[in-house]
Amino acid sequence: MVTASAPGKVYLFGEHAVVYGEPAVPCAIDLRARVTAEERSDDRLVVHARDLKLDGFTVEYGEGSPDVDAEDALVRAAVGYVDESVAQVRDAAGRPGAGLEITVESDVPLGAGLGSSAAVSVAAIEAGTRALGTELDREEVADRAYRVEHAVQDGQASRSDTFCSTMGGAVRVEGDDTRRLDAPDLPFVVGYDGGAGDTGELVAKVRALREDYGFAADTVAAIGDLVREGERALAEGDVEELGRLMNFNHGLLSAVGVSSRSLDGMVWAARGAGAHGAKLTGAGGGGCIVALDPTDATERALSLTPQCERAFRAELDAEGVRVE
Ligand code: PMV
Repeated sequence: MVTASAPGKVYLFGEHAVVYGEPAVPCAIDLRARVTAEERSDDRLVVHARDLKLDGFTVEYGEGSPDVDAEDALVRAAVGYVDESVAQVRDAAGRPGAGLEITVESDVPLGAGLGSSAAVSVAAIEAGTRALGTELDREEVADRAYRVEHAVQDGQASRSDTFCSTMGGAVRVEGDDTRRLDAPDLPFVVGYDGGAGDTGELVAKVRALREDYGFAADTVAAIGDLVREGERALAEGDVEELGRLMNFNHGLLSAVGVSSRSLDGMVWAARGAGAHGAKLTGAGGGGCIVALDPTDATERALSLTPQCERAFRAELDAEGVRVE
């Protein structure tokens, strides 16, 4: 039996634009998904999922499609990530018929812009391959987890979340070019509205806008320019400039239609409390915002904001995937 864990992330800059080849800078944070894997004597796959901010559920796979004892679309999506991760595990281990018992526990809320699916996929690949007696290097774990997201999200995925979750720290992703960045300890505060956005739907919405309006394509390109500016501020440890650029990034994401009332409400609450800056993180539509504030003011203001279900401070996670 092997347990591995992998972190969630916030986007400092660049979500959505990264889908069109612009750079993005996600940062791993200290919320983790943990996956335990054990080889079974038969060829079946049994998945137990607990604490995915939903009621627990168990799925048994035999021939054909999984039989899920829950209706929720998010649960179905979560099952898809586990299913594809197991396909990658079997392929990497050269054991196409291997049976596995998988247990998933996660602190990362589902579909909220904190990289829950990447964290689960990365931890599942690490735990699953080790349970079948194979050890992958981190590059291969990241690449196989990317293929999982690519398959489940109908080809609409960047390498950002999976690379960041595998490597930890702040990373830079531009197409297939992925690397770690030096980053100071950033004073992240996260606000969570208790909801979720549909990543596939939101990516499709931006794609359609880009096709219909030249200025929407320019807006996406402007996010790329902003990210390059942000990388300089990150290298200099200039937290105030990072905050200003995050505010700008949120405005550009709003312009392409991926913010929401609750995300805007939390962003403005953070700014009102004196945060250096605040923006939505991830696909948008609902879920989380991230702010930079070394004081307690933003966390306090968010916890009093009606749209905010939970506010918490997050630390940069330097470690990435690990065996527990
Ligand atoms: O909300 P998340 O954590 O699934 O992030 C989505 C980020 C996008 O840039 C919108 C899509 C992607 O795959 O990069």
